[in-house]
Amino acid sequence: MNSDKTGMHGVWASRWTFVLAATGSAVGLGNIWKFPYITGENGGGAFVLVYLACILCAGIPVMMAEVMLGRKGRMSPINTMRNITQSENAPVFFRSIGWMGALAGFFILSFYSVIAGWTLSYIVKMATGVFDGANADVAGEQFGGLLGDPVQLTVLHTIFTVLVGVVLVRGVHKGLENSLRMLMPLLFIMLVLLLGYALTTPGFGEALSFLFSVDFSKLSGESVVVALGHSFFTLSLGMGAIMAYGSYMPKQASLGKTVLTVGILDTLVALVAGIVIFSVVFSNGLEPGAGPGLMFQTLPIAFAGLPLGDLIGTVFFVLVAIAAWSSAISIAEPAIAWAVEKGHSRLVATTAVCGFSWLLGLGTVVSFNVASDFTLFGKTFFDSLDFLTSNIMLPLGGILIAVFVGWFVRKETIAHEARVQSPVLFNLWIFMLKFVSPLAVGYIFIKGLGIF
Ligand code: PFF
Repeated sequence: MNSDKTGMHGVWASRWTFVLAATGSAVGLGNIWKFPYITGENGGGAFVLVYLACILCAGIPVMMAEVMLGRKGRMSPINTMRNITQSENAPVFFRSIGWMGALAGFFILSFYSVIAGWTLSYIVKMATGVFDGANADVAGEQFGGLLGDPVQLTVLHTIFTVLVGVVLVRGVHKGLENSLRMLMPLLFIMLVLLLGYALTTPGFGEALSFLFSVDFSKLSGESVVVALGHSFFTLSLGMGAIMAYGSYMPKQASLGKTVLTVGILDTLVALVAGIVIFSVVFSNGLEPGAGPGLMFQTLPIAFAGLPLGDLIGTVFFVLVAIAAWSSAISIAEPAIAWAVEKGHSRLVATTAVCGFSWLLGLGTVVSFNVASDFTLFGKTFFDSLDFLTSNIMLPLGGILIAVFVGWFVRKETIAHEARVQSPVLFNLWIFMLKFVSPLAVGYIFIKGLGIF
């Protein structure tokens, strides 16, 4: 590790390690658990199309901007934003990007680790043959049983939080690089295997048409906001996670190709997960809009239908848990990097961030059982926190990043840091940041949330 010209946190070994780490951050529960269930709740094809458009028009340009800022600032997002705002003479207001991001990360981690806890429970269930020959009823009962048990959920939430904390204490490079190098490709292989299975099921055609035939009449204003929010959530944008990882990126690596690779991999995983899950849904007469339990109520049925299903299912849930783990690490990193820069040890910083987010996570735990009747603006505690972060804080952070880089950072600074080789692509990127991303995000926000 080389830390002289790279800031106090060190640098990734190569461009590929950055791709690996950023993909590790991007690919997680958002792709395999959240994308299918929100697509089911929001009517399918038209929602998927809006989501893809948001990835292209806002996600990729903002991701490039975040990595660029991180690589220039070489510190935690809070201090990176402070330093660049100063050096570019930009309004102090933009410093809020760093603060809001750390807060959003803390909120997201609180519920993310609860859901990741479910995957831990499913590893055990698969390995012990609970789903042997399972049908939709068994899958539904098992999931209902888990959700109704706050003690078990708390234990799982605690185990996952500790697993995340252990890596964070050691520092993301040491903790992440080696494990991801093998495990990410394995996750891709498992998904392709499941895709092969989905192809043989009677619901495959219906799944494709659900996901890809576009019917705009099924799309509400709120659905569009959810699609937008998810494009930020799935790419880990708008809160500094990718900025923190960008700060560990080697200077010479080209930004465009790197970011595009991460965006494509992330989108592919989500689409494949969606195809597999909806094939099972339609083959078994399940409800596409079943909500957060969708993945947990469908995949066990798929595994029951496969030779060596228990083994494959166990490995699959292990990989999902690892994907969630590598994402969760990046969610906490901005706040921890900042605390370390303040002079705290990584141990103290990690204990504080993970401890508070664990505590807040208890709210999500009970929102699925004893406190499911408690609502804020008509949503459970979990749904409110998810809505606030994904659909408000992350897109807002994204707009601010786009406007900041597009309008307030000098073009020479950007060109120097970004190393986008083609002038046409460079100008297109700046155009997107200046106009397309902020206007698109702003429009969806205002329309979808009914602000005016
Ligand atoms: N991108 C992750 C996923 O799709 O599961 C979640 C996530 C990670 C969101 C990091 C935000 C973040 F900063």
